[in-house]
Amino acid sequence: MDFPCLPHGGELLDLVVDEERARVLRTLARDLRSITLSRRQASDLELLLNGAYSPLRGFMCSADYESVLDRMRLQDGTLWPMPVCLDVSEAEARGLEAGQSVALRDSEGFMLAVLHLEDIWPADKKEEARSVYGTRDVHHPGVDYLFNHSGSHYVGGTLEGVQLPLHSAFKRLRHTPAEMRRLFKKLGWRRVVGFHTRNPLHRAQFEMTLRAMAEAKANLLLHPVAHRAKPGDIDYYTRIHCYLAASKHYPPNMMLLSLLPLTMRMAGPKEALWHAIIRKNYGCTHFIVGPSHAGHCRDGEGRPFYAPGEAGDFAASHAQELGMTVMPFEGWVYVVEEDVYTPAKEVPPQCTIRSLADDEFHHKLRTSRRVPDWFTFPEVVEELQQAYPPRHRQGFTIFCTGLSGAGKSTIARVLYARFLEMGGRPVTLLDGDIVRRNLSSELGFSKEHRDVNVRRIGFVASEITKNRGIAICAPIAPYASTRRQIRQVIEQYGGFIEVHVATPLEECERRDRKGLYAKARAGLIKGFTGIDDPYEAPQAAEVFLDTTDLTPDEAAQEILLYLEREGYIK
Ligand code: PPS
Repeated sequence: MDFPCLPHGGELLDLVVDEERARVLRTLARDLRSITLSRRQASDLELLLNGAYSPLRGFMCSADYESVLDRMRLQDGTLWPMPVCLDVSEAEARGLEAGQSVALRDSEGFMLAVLHLEDIWPADKKEEARSVYGTRDVHHPGVDYLFNHSGSHYVGGTLEGVQLPLHSAFKRLRHTPAEMRRLFKKLGWRRVVGFHTRNPLHRAQFEMTLRAMAEAKANLLLHPVAHRAKPGDIDYYTRIHCYLAASKHYPPNMMLLSLLPLTMRMAGPKEALWHAIIRKNYGCTHFIVGPSHAGHCRDGEGRPFYAPGEAGDFAASHAQELGMTVMPFEGWVYVVEEDVYTPAKEVPPQCTIRSLADDEFHHKLRTSRRVPDWFTFPEVVEELQQAYPPRHRQGFTIFCTGLSGAGKSTIARVLYARFLEMGGRPVTLLDGDIVRRNLSSELGFSKEHRDVNVRRIGFVASEITKNRGIAICAPIAPYASTRRQIRQVIEQYGGFIEVHVATPLEECERRDRKGLYAKARAGLIKGFTGIDDPYEAPQAAEVFLDTTDLTPDEAAQEILLYLEREGYIK
């Protein structure tokens, strides 16, 4: 059955005001408080302003928030699975009150919209995690964001848009829902299948979309997200080059590529339904839900948070009310004998099948292994290889962590000299003391300050790694979760080699080169790592070194051998 292609809730909204009103708002904004939006918040704002989140007229108020968490509906009964709230810190919330208007600005200070505040309330994060993600486990990236990054309070109210967020890249691939609908009309496309993705398009997805187009007798809107959904995803510029390359394999004039400025939450079933609603607003009549749609994440034991097919079944069970055809697709595999892709359950007997999981594919890319021809198109491989050069041409970070006096700085200095001697890549030494003097001179040794210090080091190291240099860091970095965060950021760009300089406390104290252990024992220094402050030892460092019986050269050599084994140096 064909559904008419109506916007969700009946009306496609456009919350951007006309030029005259925009001028009034800009003048008004001089006296308004401002909220600077994060990238994720700015992407929600864009989708609110351009109508992709119709029928929402602004960031949700508490009544809609609770109703969405409780029964997956807005207060007026409209189906809506995900909260769309603007989070602020407790301190920011204290400075705001209902009835007030605030200017929403991007990170450079451009005013994008005015929010007429109706409601401020503390987020119910536990309930939100349970309802949206079905888990409170912080291994889930959406839950991690909610508990560890999102502000404690939400502010809700209606929006008046002054301008859509600015995008400098790939402008011709960006459309508002209204523009997209006009384009479909102009092209005479009455049935359109929407395909959502956050990964490059490979042969399996290509064949799947062709099958969906044939079944629905429809054209295709290839609608990838223009943001990184989770750490480890391929950067979006590279992905778009891959889509452009893969698009050439479709029959002429059958498909359109457009970028969706959505920040995914990875909420599996509920997110799949949300994605369908968004595509309905863009004018799609059909929507493909992949086998682990928006749910490719695992808990601490490596178990997926959502079962294969769960998202498709869930979204399809609401298709009637949604007024859209949801097309759940199961896993597709490559059949060697026939050189085709097919759903796993349609494989002819006695045939050999091949498949490559997302993780394996990413691993191959990052370790410069060959991606098999059956998996993707040669043009896509070429694009990916440019973005992921072999390891000996990638940047990397050597992150030495351990107690004061363990030998981190000495090893770091030897390594620094060795890398300079080798040549080929720029090398930067970010020793604990150097950083404390130049980057973090205002910081002390509380947990909060140590985390800020270590994150700063991580940021600088990530920039160096991104630009294919070598960063050698040597802070104590006593907290495992902070080291993990840094690893996640740096591994997007190159290697992260954690070196646990695990010289025992007794030996560090015996050396006591700076006399600090003696002072700490005498109570003259408080909160000294290893004495009266914690050090959380790495559980799975790439290199483990106890320098009790190792010379600095021997210790550095162990690291160089590791780098050579793993292909970082030739
Ligand atoms: S941290 O925890 O990573 O931010 O520490 P870091 O920046 O590496 O600084 C550690 C150096 O500061 C000196 N120092 C202390 N260390 C630990 N605890 C306390 N309270 C403290 N106060 C000063 C110490 O000399 C460390 O130097 P290293 O090079 O590690 O011996």
